[in-house]
Amino acid sequence: MLIPIDQVLDKASAIAWRRQLETAPWQDGKLTAGTQAVQVKANQQLAADNGLAITLGNTLLRTLGANPLFLSAALPKKIFPPKFNRYQHGGHYGLHVDNAIMHLPDKQMLRTDLSATLFLSEPDDYEGGELVIESQYGAQEVKLEAGDLLLYPSTSLHEVKPVTAGARICAFFWVESLVRDSQQREMLFDLDQSIQALTLERGSSDHEVRRLSGVYHNLVRSWAEA
Ligand code: NI
Repeated sequence: MLIPIDQVLDKASAIAWRRQLETAPWQDGKLTAGTQAVQVKANQQLAADNGLAITLGNTLLRTLGANPLFLSAALPKKIFPPKFNRYQHGGHYGLHVDNAIMHLPDKQMLRTDLSATLFLSEPDDYEGGELVIESQYGAQEVKLEAGDLLLYPSTSLHEVKPVTAGARICAFFWVESLVRDSQQREMLFDLDQSIQALTLERGSSDHEVRRLSGVYHNLVRSWAEA
C-alpha cells in the first residue's frame, strides 16, 4: 500500500528548506550506491555529515514524531537519519529494491520495512522525475506537492524517472516498523483510522469505540516486536 501523507512540512518550511538545499554541496549519488545500484543511479546527494543535512534531518524526525498519520501508518521502531537528494539534467534512478539492512551511525542495524520520500520541490518545478512503484496492482506513478510525504513498502521495486528540466529535491529515509509484516501493519492502519473517525462521531467514552481500541492495542501487542 502506498500511503501519501499531506503537508508533513508546511509550504513555507518546504520553500525555506529548498532554498537552503539549492546551494548545498551536492555529491555524486554513486558514492553511496551498492554494487547493483551503482549501475542505475544517477543523482546527487548530500554527505551524511553535512551540517545542513543533519539539521534538517533532525527537524524532520521531530516533525514525524508528532505526525499522527505517519505514526499510525509506520508504527516506527527505528528511523534512518533522513538523507537528501537532487535530480536534474536527466538524473534518474533506475528500477531497484532498497537494501534490506541499513547501518545506522551508531553501528546499530535497521531493517528497511518502509521507504519514505518527502517531496521538497513542487511538481511544476521539474519535468519527469516521477517516483514509479511497482505494486501488486501494477506500476503507480507518484509526484507529490512540496511538503508531502510518500510511504511505501521497501519490498517494492521502484524507480525515479529522468528529470528532463528543472530540479527535483527530496528528503528520503527508511523505517524499521514495530510490525514487520506489511499486511498486518496495513490492517492496523485501517483499523486505527476507523477508530479515529468513530471517536469523532461518538466520543472516546463510547462502548464500541473503547472495545475496538482494545482490539487495536491487543493486535499490536500480538504482532509488534518491541
Ligand atoms: Ni530506492
